[in-house]
Amino acid sequence: MAKKRFYIANDHAGFKLKLALVNFLETRGYKVTDLGSSSEDAVDYPDYAAKVCKSVLKDRNSLGIAICGTGMGMCIACNKFRKIRAAMVYSEHTARRAVEHNNANIFCFGGRSQSAMEVKEYLSEILKSRFSREVRHGRRNAKIDKLG
Ligand code: RB5
Repeated sequence: MAKKRFYIANDHAGFKLKLALVNFLETRGYKVTDLGSSSEDAVDYPDYAAKVCKSVLKDRNSLGIAICGTGMGMCIACNKFRKIRAAMVYSEHTARRAVEHNNANIFCFGGRSQSAMEVKEYLSEILKSRFSREVRHGRRNAKIDKLG
């Protein structure tokens, strides 16, 4: 299967980390669509969360990355969208589990709380991981889809 495309969006606090992650993914052969913002001028992160969610929902063979200062605002906003499973990733373990158990389709990071070096390690885990075939994880994700 072709490599997944990544859609990536950020607010002002995530701009620098975004640049590092775009470079990281492109040098590994992934196609990346940068949805902005494109500077450190202040913007509202929900606007960029919406952009990345709508893009991921339209493109089945894609994943999203959303970056703000902490990752938390983006994560809260993204999870308002049905069928979006946004995960706040803060370790190699949570990176693996976000894929294996949660089948996350958007990964959230904090430009003011995480270094580019650590986030690249988490992304490496995400790229290596696959959703588990165990029935319980599918069942739990289906229950999430029915909430709200
Ligand atoms: C912006 O100052 C900051 O609130 C935002 O980047 C994010 O951390 C929110 O969760």
